[in-house]
Amino acid sequence: MSKILVTGGAGYIGTHTLVALAEAGFESVVIDDFSNSKPEALRRVSALAGREIPVMRADLRDAEALRRTFSEHTFDAVIHFAGLKAVGESVRIPLRYYDNNLVSTVRLLEAMEEHGCRRLVFSSSATVYGDPASLPLREEAPLSATSPYGRTKLMIEEMLRDLARASALKNDPPEGAWRIDALRYFNPVGAHESGQIGEDPNGVPNNLFPYLSQVAVGRLPELTVYGSDYPTPDGTGVRDYLHVMDLAEGHVAAVRHLLDESLPAPFAEAINLGTGSGISVVQAIRAFESASGKSIPVRVSERRPGDVAACYADPSKAARMLGWTARRNLAAMCEDTWRWQSRNPSGYA
Ligand code: NAD
Ligand code: UFG
Repeated sequence: MSKILVTGGAGYIGTHTLVALAEAGFESVVIDDFSNSKPEALRRVSALAGREIPVMRADLRDAEALRRTFSEHTFDAVIHFAGLKAVGESVRIPLRYYDNNLVSTVRLLEAMEEHGCRRLVFSSSATVYGDPASLPLREEAPLSATSPYGRTKLMIEEMLRDLARASALKNDPPEGAWRIDALRYFNPVGAHESGQIGEDPNGVPNNLFPYLSQVAVGRLPELTVYGSDYPTPDGTGVRDYLHVMDLAEGHVAAVRHLLDESLPAPFAEAINLGTGSGISVVQAIRAFESASGKSIPVRVSERRPGDVAACYADPSKAARMLGWTARRNLAAMCEDTWRWQSRNPSGYA
């Protein structure tokens, strides 16, 4: 059975991916410092997966902790979720983001080199496309970033391409060459169908779906719609919302891609994970109302600084290279978010 190290495995996308990995027959080990998650999330994952998932509580910047983990286990690949992700906070406290996201990635890559594990799935983001010049977004589109958070993703992607280039220069044999998939996620939403795990943001949510669901469950009074004068069909922002279990299955497909020894290596591929459809804020509200049976009070305000009008993927590279396409629709995204939120009104607390 292949063994996967999952950094940041206690977080939103990590927990769902651990369940998908277990279903696909992979063994996982988690490293997380619980800076943005709770141990309860992993207890529920173990129950869903039907087996205990070993957890190392550590900060990835701690080289000694990484060395211990890599000496105790032999990993076939690493999925690297750990990082800070709040765009607005990264503008206010940029050094926290550069320190956490960049230093932890460098320490992890050093540990991987040292222990001869050179297969990596990295959590990148559609944020690396900045304000898109044309849609849908293909991987070759120009890259730019509008926040320190986005710049950490861009810098890490460059770091990974440099590693693959160095691997080629050294003429590493195929089994020892870097194989990297940087997955550019669009907007992950929803929860596991069981309602046992889901997104549990600290404080007031920044993102549309957790905000919508907290209004529906009565934790927040109303939703603010940021802008109704965008050049989109109904004037509100358009995004490519993607069910988190589809995203989780995308990671399983990426791990299989990295383990495919028939592929020439080294490589460092950037791959979009999205549905390819754009949904507006108004469409998302309507779908959420119909899934939850609750009406959502709404107030329209100014545009949120830094937001783009529309952003959606061309997901054809993922279909071609990973054999992956998103299967779940907007109704399922809303129903599963609601099942999680209504059964766990205070999240994991
Ligand atoms: P999350 O905050 O729920 O999970 C991240 C996990 O990493 C948390 O459990 C946190 O405790 C842990 N962590 C953070 N810094 C760490 C460190 N130095 N050492 C050890 N553990 C650490 O976030 P998520 O939504 O699951 O996102 C996972 C990844 O996907 C992140 O890299 C994020 O930037 C990226 N991403 C997320 C989205 C999204 O909308 N959720 C979109 C695009 C990309
Ligand atoms: N929105 C509202 N009200 C809210 C929250 C969001 O109207 O309370 C709107 C936004 O203006 C936007 C849409 O809903 O039009 C989606 O907003 P999200 O915050 O859910 O998602 P973003 O696309 O803005 O952000 C996501 C990720 C970030 C990433 C960014 C850029 O969460 O990590 O995409 O790719 F940086």
